[in-house]
Amino acid sequence: MRIRLLWSIFLLLPLPILSSSVHIKRAHHSHNYYVLEHDPLVAGIPLDAVTEVLGVELVEPVKNLRNFWLVRAEKQSVSTRTEGSTDPVLARYNRLRSNAHPSTTGFTERSQDHALANSIKYLSRQTLRQRAKRAPPPIASTVFESASQVAERLAISDPLFGEQWHLVNEEYPENTMNVTGVWEMGITGKGVISSLIDDGLDYTSDDLAENFDAAASHDYNDHTDLPTPKLSDDTHGTRCAGQIAAVRNNLCGVGIAYDSKVAGVRILSGPISDVDEAEALNYAYQDVSIYSCSWGPPDDGRTMEGPDYLIRKAMLEGINNGRDGKGSVFVFASGNGAASGDQCNFDGYTNSIYSVTVSAIDYKHVHPYYSEPCAANMVVAYSSGSGKSIVTTDRGDNKCTSRHGGTSAAAPNAVGVFALALQVRPDLTWRDIQHLCVRTARMINEDEDEWENTAAGRKYNYKYGYGVLDGYRFVTAAQEWELVKPQAWFKTPTVILENGKMTEDWVYSGGQFITEEGITSTITVTQEMLQNHNFEKLEHINVKVWINHARRGDVEVEVVSPNGIKSVLAGQRRNDKADTGFPGWTFMSVKHWDEDPVGDWTIRVTDAVNSDTNGTFLGWNIMFWGSAVDPAQVKKFELVSEKDVFPPPEEAPEPPKPSPTTTRTYQRPTVHPETSAETSPTSSPDSEVSTSSFPGLAKLVSNQKAFFGAIGAVAVFGIGMAVFFWRRRVRARQQNYTSLVGEDVGMTMAGDRTGTRELYDAFGEDSDEDAGDEQTLLPKSGLPDNGAHYRDEPDEQDGRGSRNRERDDVDSNLSGSWEHASP
Ligand SMILES: *[C@@H]1O[C@H](CO)[C@@H](O)[C@H](O)[C@H]1NC(C)=O
Ligand SMILES: *[C@@H]1O[C@H](CO)[C@@H](O)[C@H](O)[C@H]1NC(C)=O
Repeated sequence: MRIRLLWSIFLLLPLPILSSSVHIKRAHHSHNYYVLEHDPLVAGIPLDAVTEVLGVELVEPVKNLRNFWLVRAEKQSVSTRTEGSTDPVLARYNRLRSNAHPSTTGFTERSQDHALANSIKYLSRQTLRQRAKRAPPPIASTVFESASQVAERLAISDPLFGEQWHLVNEEYPENTMNVTGVWEMGITGKGVISSLIDDGLDYTSDDLAENFDAAASHDYNDHTDLPTPKLSDDTHGTRCAGQIAAVRNNLCGVGIAYDSKVAGVRILSGPISDVDEAEALNYAYQDVSIYSCSWGPPDDGRTMEGPDYLIRKAMLEGINNGRDGKGSVFVFASGNGAASGDQCNFDGYTNSIYSVTVSAIDYKHVHPYYSEPCAANMVVAYSSGSGKSIVTTDRGDNKCTSRHGGTSAAAPNAVGVFALALQVRPDLTWRDIQHLCVRTARMINEDEDEWENTAAGRKYNYKYGYGVLDGYRFVTAAQEWELVKPQAWFKTPTVILENGKMTEDWVYSGGQFITEEGITSTITVTQEMLQNHNFEKLEHINVKVWINHARRGDVEVEVVSPNGIKSVLAGQRRNDKADTGFPGWTFMSVKHWDEDPVGDWTIRVTDAVNSDTNGTFLGWNIMFWGSAVDPAQVKKFELVSEKDVFPPPEEAPEPPKPSPTTTRTYQRPTVHPETSAETSPTSSPDSEVSTSSFPGLAKLVSNQKAFFGAIGAVAVFGIGMAVFFWRRRVRARQQNYTSLVGEDVGMTMAGDRTGTRELYDAFGEDSDEDAGDEQTLLPKSGLPDNGAHYRDEPDEQDGRGSRNRERDDVDSNLSGSWEHASP
């Protein structure tokens, strides 16, 4: 409220459009949008001085993130825009920064520019991106039967309850989320709100209406209040919501927490900018307890991408201040790319310490071919496979579906269990939820040799994390649970190998040559380090690496703890041909939970594949996260935007951080035209070669027979997804981003029609309104048949991958949408 008031004074605009419920529509066709972090403590530099010098106008404050502002500038017209020209706003900022440099100007101007540049802590152009749903893989269709006897026994009249094997499994009675005993205790999720950040939520369905929370819902695709699913394929969020909170009534089945509430925040039905994604992750974060996120960067086995600074900032805001300081609970699906060799440690959402990462297991306890393994997996939950999927509410006139699946459906099952626990223990922090996962997950398939001991005496498996989430065990343990002490952390010094260096532009030099046997490096943790950082007990570790390599997918990375516990952080990825290496990529492992970290930690980096493509290991460090000895000394972790170079700059506060905004020239996608064709996940010869070339990590891929059979299914699925997202994209292109901003701020959007077409022509040809039926997803002639193209991520096509989107904002917009848009 205060910020909004302040803002109203700045703009002297009429109050109605400032009221807190109004969210201004974006006009991406006519304006470029930027997020600006302004430091109000830099003397004499008010926000309007900054916007003036940058030539931008204020749009609105970024919700919940103090000192972050959404600003915009009108796009240059086509005629004045030359190919590859730099963004004028970023150019002005760069000029300001170089003027601030001591050698260039006289003292007075310099100090003014210096202060101006200093007051800009972050500036990033907003690019529209499309997040991929972790949608169900294709399955053999199952036939509905009427209500089972089990439903009658439990006095539930929902007709499909008997089909909900993840609740009551007649064939394999132990293979369920095990929540019926919790319901019998009267725990059904009352008072808890979960938010589905997804493609909308059909609140008109009688199976959801009663449990729908409109106030915590929003549509960031169409910038309206209610998350109405509008595209024909907007069914995903509704199905996930049904798993959590389908009403106990005469329709479909029931949700795991059928008396809890669900909200919908719609972001997946078209490209959105980072600022909207950031707001979505904090939407109504005092009321919402859990955010269910069944989406992420592409699961194609060659993308390495994570949330950029702004989105990480938002997640941390939720962790530090959401739910009255107890922290928002973020639940992410591990990803569906296992058959393409993808691993959840290459996804910066699933490998965040702030998310509970959930992979999938089917009703028979077969590991589904799609579910991604990695050391960041915490638990596994039930989903599709072996011919059965999840039965839940569907979008439409009281519709149900029996075809929901993928890791997409595993995550909401976990959300449902957390909602049950939060009814009885609303005081659990985000870390208590994770502790309870680690402690109560049930080991399955015990004879698989992928189970490994942890130092704390538990069993861990990259495919299953600590095991299957068991509702009864989780909730009963929560009832007794003593809250963990606040979080503590410490980072080791960074090891620099053989003069390794990386510039802001990702130009590497030096480093130790990576051999086929692997090279190692050791970091020693001492008792003093723990004491100095008020550190008591270990939870997560982050291992940050700088590796230069001509073919990233060849590189394997693992770390071994002082107690001999090994975390495989990166296995080979046959599809990953990026030559950009690991420019400070952060891996995560939960396998060292409760381990004593004192002693030698040894990393091994291996390139077992061949010598045509080779590389060097520049350096690394480890961040340890855990609980504090003395809660009184604890401060909450704060994220600062760091200059992205190696060796990392000293901790000392520095003048403005240039990294997010510098304009760079990257290779255009067309430089490697062969790359996107070769890396198509639909190409099965490629897939076959790769299974045998998974030596270091063979165990990460399921050894089940289903795997090879699955390749074909994946091909079909890939093609289906290509069409699915292509159509979605086309639809998105047609959405009308026009009126609101133009009218409210007195700008006319009429002048830039060409801009509209130009930006969105990058996304495809004509619209096809009747997309979405599962049966119609096969390609027609003329449609892209490369599964890799199902996302609106131009930079994925050149195989470059993008580790850190704050680095890529400028680039992807210019070399992606804009260049492709040129005739
Ligand atoms: C499931 O819940 C029941 C209580 O309803 C409990 O006795 C049991 O241990 C739990 N786990 C399994 C695998 O059944
Ligand atoms: C590394 O790769 C480059 C390029 O293929 C090659 O010229 C060089 O000889 C390789 N180095 C080693 C030590 O194998």
